[in-house]
Amino acid sequence: MTEKLRFGIVGCGVIGPIHAQAIASLPDAQLVAVTDINPEKAQRLADEYAVKPYTTLAEMLAGEQLDVVNICTPSGRHGEQVCQVMRSGRHVIVEKPMEISHAAIEQMLRVQQESGVKLAVISQHRFDPASLQVHDLVEEQAFGRLVLGNAIVPWWRSQAYYDSGAWRGTWQLDGGGVLMNQSIHSIDLLQWFMGPVRSIYAYTDTLAHHMETEDVAVAVLRFENGALGTIAATTSAYPGVTTRIEIFGAKGSAVIEDDNLSYLHLAREDAQEIGAYGIAHERIETRSASFAEGSYKKSKKAAAAGSTAQNPAALSFRGHALQIADMIRAIREDGTPVVDGQAARRPVEIILGIYESARTHKEVTLP
Ligand SMILES: NC(=O)c1ccc[n+]([C@@H]2O[C@H](COP(=O)([O-])OP(=O)(O)OC[C@H]3O[C@@H](n4cnc5c(N)ncnc54)[C@H](O)[C@@H]3O)[C@@H](O)[C@H]2O)c1
Repeated sequence: MTEKLRFGIVGCGVIGPIHAQAIASLPDAQLVAVTDINPEKAQRLADEYAVKPYTTLAEMLAGEQLDVVNICTPSGRHGEQVCQVMRSGRHVIVEKPMEISHAAIEQMLRVQQESGVKLAVISQHRFDPASLQVHDLVEEQAFGRLVLGNAIVPWWRSQAYYDSGAWRGTWQLDGGGVLMNQSIHSIDLLQWFMGPVRSIYAYTDTLAHHMETEDVAVAVLRFENGALGTIAATTSAYPGVTTRIEIFGAKGSAVIEDDNLSYLHLAREDAQEIGAYGIAHERIETRSASFAEGSYKKSKKAAAAGSTAQNPAALSFRGHALQIADMIRAIREDGTPVVDGQAARRPVEIILGIYESARTHKEVTLP
């Protein structure tokens, strides 16, 4: 039998325990230690999984035989800690965003090359069945020429949420507001489906919270393939409403709502040609209802139980487990994780481009 890979977690706040749950759910993985600068948080998580607590990363790296370290600390700390782990010869899984500046990301990629270890960045919604299905269809060119892609994130976070950690909503450690923290998942999916972004024009503002960074943003995008797109995001939409990712092409359209495929229509599946004015209205309703019914019920249920549109802690560990399993596969096969550093830098570059456009009132072109 192959030995289990030994994991350590750094950061035992909201997301650290989700990593612990995900690791515990995998037959090939074993949690052996956790670290938090707050000794009580480290002790609490360590007790739950009967592992050793540490209060510094350096002590955990020196004291434990580890294969993989999961970094779950404030976003602006990721670069320094990821580099520290990679230099110790261990593989790293780091939470999103990979980092919050171009310079930090460049440094992480350089150290990864030098150390030869594997680096994966959490973007758990890439592993949702709906995301995988839409991505496969894009690869098959089932949507025809892509013309428009939208990401809509009307979430709610209270002032108490921003006040719950000194780093939240700051430029220095959160690296931004609703875009860098909450919407990065949807922005990553949007660019994964639509392809690289070429240029951006954007507005951002802080309208309903006391915080440094933005709680509302809109951006218009031009993708490299010529398609257009929009991003509309806020953490001030009480009580937090369905996230939508919409992909429109000349031969098909798809809508993902709260991680479920709520609408899919492909020309290749039409028994007869659609008229010059598009599909008849009744047919749209029948077709979309059969997809939407399930997801509508689910999203109503999610709202009742609390979804991440409303509550950051209402998060399943399953997406993280799939992504950690993907890292284990990459280590065992000496392959590449699905979301490696090169893949994870893209959504951050789009977000930094949005901030630059909003600041300068100019169109920003990505390299
Ligand atoms: N993938 C997701 O869906 C998801 C969800 C929530 C958060 N996140 C990401 O996870 C990261 C952490 O977010 P959170 O909400 O868990 O934050 P948090 O504030 O709840 O937890 C962060 C923890 O890190 C600890 N910490 C800070 N500096 C440290 C250091 N130098 N060494 C060790 N521990 C340190 C803090 O004491 C705290 O317990 C952020 O990058 C965030 O974007 C991702």
